[in-house]
Amino acid sequence: MNYRQLSKEELKEVLAQEKKRYQELVEKNLSYDMTRGKPGSNQLDLSNDLLGEKYIGNAKAASGTECRNYGVLDGIPEIKKLMADMMGTKPENVIVGGNSSLNMMFDTLMRFMVFGTSADSTPWGKLDKVKFICPVPGYDRHFLICEKLGIEMIPVELQEDGPDMEKVLELVKDPAVKGMWSIPKYSNPSGVVYSDEKICQLASMECAAPDFTIMWDDAYTVHYLGDAPAKQKNLIEACAEAGNPNRAYVFGSTSKITFPGSGIAVLASSVENIKYSLSYITAQTIGNDKLNQLRHANFLKDYDGIVAHMEKHAEILRPKFNAVLEVLEEELGGLGILEWTKPQGGYFVSINTLDGCATKVVAMANACGVKFTPAGATFPYRKDPRDRNIRIAPTLPPLEELYEAIRVLCVCIKICSAEKLLEA
Ligand SMILES: Cc1ncc(COP(=O)(O)O)c(C=O)c1O
Repeated sequence: MNYRQLSKEELKEVLAQEKKRYQELVEKNLSYDMTRGKPGSNQLDLSNDLLGEKYIGNAKAASGTECRNYGVLDGIPEIKKLMADMMGTKPENVIVGGNSSLNMMFDTLMRFMVFGTSADSTPWGKLDKVKFICPVPGYDRHFLICEKLGIEMIPVELQEDGPDMEKVLELVKDPAVKGMWSIPKYSNPSGVVYSDEKICQLASMECAAPDFTIMWDDAYTVHYLGDAPAKQKNLIEACAEAGNPNRAYVFGSTSKITFPGSGIAVLASSVENIKYSLSYITAQTIGNDKLNQLRHANFLKDYDGIVAHMEKHAEILRPKFNAVLEVLEEELGGLGILEWTKPQGGYFVSINTLDGCATKVVAMANACGVKFTPAGATFPYRKDPRDRNIRIAPTLPPLEELYEAIRVLCVCIKICSAEKLLEA
């Protein structure tokens, strides 16, 4: 049955049935929260060994540095090596920060606004207009940073292998377009993995702004659900090869490897950019949490150690993602009213309803006790022009809740779609 091929009478019948199901669900007084991509408690348990003394030992780094005391602005050598390996770069290309990569992104753009991207560039805050390319759907906090800093956002469609490059190449001819956001692997929310071809295009494209910067948020670089993390061309390398060595600012963290809020964040870039960034970071802090750096380095050990740890996460997450896909297929497969992603990694399933339905679907699910990320959150200024994208975050709820929550979502989608088609 395809809803679009049903007569008005048949649609009315479907609508009545689904409304009855909805009422039954309301009477269950459900209370589920699917709003944010947080790890479940059994995922957090995987890193509980970090909590004791086991991985701190005598609190000395391999170099002999006393980790209980001040110092070492960019991270102890073993954590720099580990984070560089995770980000596919070299220790001299990284600054290990505090607990949050988002914080490092905000700080980076603040530096650009106040001081410029290099000693001889104009601070962006002194310019009439600064614009950023924002592949959509995307991450709400990226958009919020731009909004807070007064950076005008230009949405560009995120296709299956990366942003619509035709559009990007046109936009970068404008000198006010100073940069773009990207989540290159298992993108939030659509799970897209950028192709090497598009990565090389982004690295080599001619930009009117000499200080054009790619904010490359590789938050899910090792967060695979298939057999292994997807291999991908390294942007820092690609930019260097293309003669634009300072274009890439890459970010990552162990937030969804160990503990969100108590992990380790990293910024990676050219050696020149690293030096420039540190010249300001030295005014902000004497050093980050080296005890946390030491225990993370000892606990995760090396790149293979990270991947082995991520496999344990994947074992917990695969059934949850499969549950979402199973219910969507069972309820909505072939109905012609919903598109959804089948991600190979990351934290989300992204769905597109019929145009004009997403806000209503989320509101109906909410009224039934199931909270989803607000519709529009995946777009700049919270405005999804087609009002159709919803982000599903399957990681936090237990499996039984997840089945029920997605069932509620499906019933709401059927009701809103039938109503929409009846209006036409
Ligand atoms: C794309 C993306 N970047 C960054 C973050 C936050 O990272 P951190 O905990 O390192 O600040 C998230 C968290 O949801 C995310 O989805």
